[in-house]
Amino acid sequence: MESTQAYIQSNKERFLKELIDLLRIPSVSADPAFAGDVRKTAELLAAGLENVGADNVEICETAGYPIVYGDKIIDPSLPTVLVYGHYDVQPADPIELWISPPFDPVIKKTDIHPEGAIFARGACDDKGQMFMHVKAFEAMIKSGSLPCNVKFMIEGEEEVGSENLGLFVKNNHDRLDADIILVSDTGIFANDVPSITTGLRGLSYVEVEVTGPNRDLHSGLYGGCVANPINILSKMIASLHDENNKITIPGFYDKVIELSDEERSEMAKAPFKKEGYLKALDIEDVYGETGYSTMERGSIRPTLDVNGIWGGYTGEGAKTVIASQAFAKISMRLVPDQDPKEITQLFYDHFISIAPLGTRVKVTPHHGGEAAVTPIDSIGYKAASMAYEKTFGKKPIPVRSGGSIPIVAMFEKELGLKTILMGFGLDSDAIHSPNEHYGLFNFYKGIETIPYFFSYYSKLVKS
Ligand code: BES
Ligand code: MN
Ligand code: MN
Repeated sequence: MESTQAYIQSNKERFLKELIDLLRIPSVSADPAFAGDVRKTAELLAAGLENVGADNVEICETAGYPIVYGDKIIDPSLPTVLVYGHYDVQPADPIELWISPPFDPVIKKTDIHPEGAIFARGACDDKGQMFMHVKAFEAMIKSGSLPCNVKFMIEGEEEVGSENLGLFVKNNHDRLDADIILVSDTGIFANDVPSITTGLRGLSYVEVEVTGPNRDLHSGLYGGCVANPINILSKMIASLHDENNKITIPGFYDKVIELSDEERSEMAKAPFKKEGYLKALDIEDVYGETGYSTMERGSIRPTLDVNGIWGGYTGEGAKTVIASQAFAKISMRLVPDQDPKEITQLFYDHFISIAPLGTRVKVTPHHGGEAAVTPIDSIGYKAASMAYEKTFGKKPIPVRSGGSIPIVAMFEKELGLKTILMGFGLDSDAIHSPNEHYGLFNFYKGIETIPYFFSYYSKLVKS
C-alpha cells in the first residue's frame, strides 16, 4: 500500500490536469445543444480507462448517451467491485452568476477549502468524484496492488433520470456481475468530520399546468370576474402544506417509515452547527416540518418543493393582464417506503381535486426514483469505514443524505447488489448551482482512500 500511496503523491499534479481536461468539455445531458460534447466526454473517459490498463473498454451505445464500460479481472475467484459514476453534468445556467466560466476550470482558495478548490460545472458532481476512481485504479495497477477485480460503469444520463442505464443493467446482468457497487457521488459531513452516506431520498417530479380563460385578458375588464390561473396555482400550491409544514396530500405519509427514538438520537450526534448553516446561507432561521431537526428534515422526512413557477407577464415595466395559463415544476423527495409511482398518483388525484371550477389542470409526471438505505453492519460498510479512518485519522459517522441517486435502489432490485456510497464532496460545494467546486483536499483524499477500501474489502471478504 505504501507504493500505491507513493504513486499517488508523485502523480498528483498530472491527475489534477487530467481532471481539468475532463471538466473543460461541457457534457450537459439535459440540453441537446451539447450532444457532441457529451459524446466527446465519453470518448475521453474511455481512452483514459484504456490508458491506465483497463480491459474490455467499450463505449456502450444506448438510445441516449453511451455508458462507458471497462474492467480488470485479475482472478475470477476474487471479489469484484463495480464502480458506478456519471460523466454528465447539470446545465450551467444561470451563467451570469458564475465568477469564472463554468467550463474553464480555475483553482481558487475559499474559507472552507484553504488549500484550494477547483471551480467548474461537474467538479464535484460527478466528474471530480468519478475520476478519483479512475486514478485510484491507475495507482493500484501501476503499483501492482490491485487486490480484487474491478468493473467500471460510468453513465452519461444521471442528471436526466438514468432511463437508458436501467435498460443497460437489465440486459447486462452477466457483464455487471459483482459483489458490491461502489459510488462516489455523495458527500462527507465536513473535511474534519468524515462520514459515509447510508441513505438517499427517492424522488417524484411533476409539472403542473393551470388553464383558465381561453386567452390572456385585460386585468381591469376581467379582473375579479374569472379565475386567474396564477392566483389559483399559487393558492393550490400554498395549500399543499399545513401550518406545521406537513404535506396535505391525502395518503402522502402512509408508507413513511418513522425512525425509532434510538435511531434519531444516534443521528443527532452528528456535529451539526446551526449558526454556521444560517450564516452560510445568509438566512435568519431555518424553516420546515414541526417536530423534526434540520438534519432530519433534510434526510429522513419527505418534502414537497416548487422548483420553478412561471406564467403571465415578466418583462420590463407593468402590463395589466390576466394570463390564460400558469405553470410550475414540483419535486417531492421521498423516504423509505414511499413508492414514487404511488406518490405521483396521489399528487395527481389531489391536485386535480382542489382545482376550482373555471380552471382546468394538467399534471405531467417526470422521472422519479426510490429511496435507498444501506446497512452499517455489512462488510462493504466496514471496509469503507476502515478506509476513511485510515486516511482521515477519524472513524466516519453514518449520515443519511437528502439527495437522490435513483439507480441505487434499481441496482439492488435488478442485480441484487448493495451500494457503498463513498462520497467526498461537501454540501457547500454548490453542486447544481453557479460556482460549483470541489476541494483539492477532497479530490486527493478520495484517491488515497479508495485503494484502502479495495484492500480492506478484499481482506474482509476472504476472512
Ligand atoms: N450526486 C447527486 C445526488 C446527491 C448529491 C446525493 C449529494 C447525495 C448527496 C446526483 O447527481 C443528483 O443530482 N441527483 C438528482 C436526481 C436525479 C434523478 C436528477 C437529485 O438529487 O436531484
Ligand atoms: Mn451526481
Ligand atoms: Mn447531480
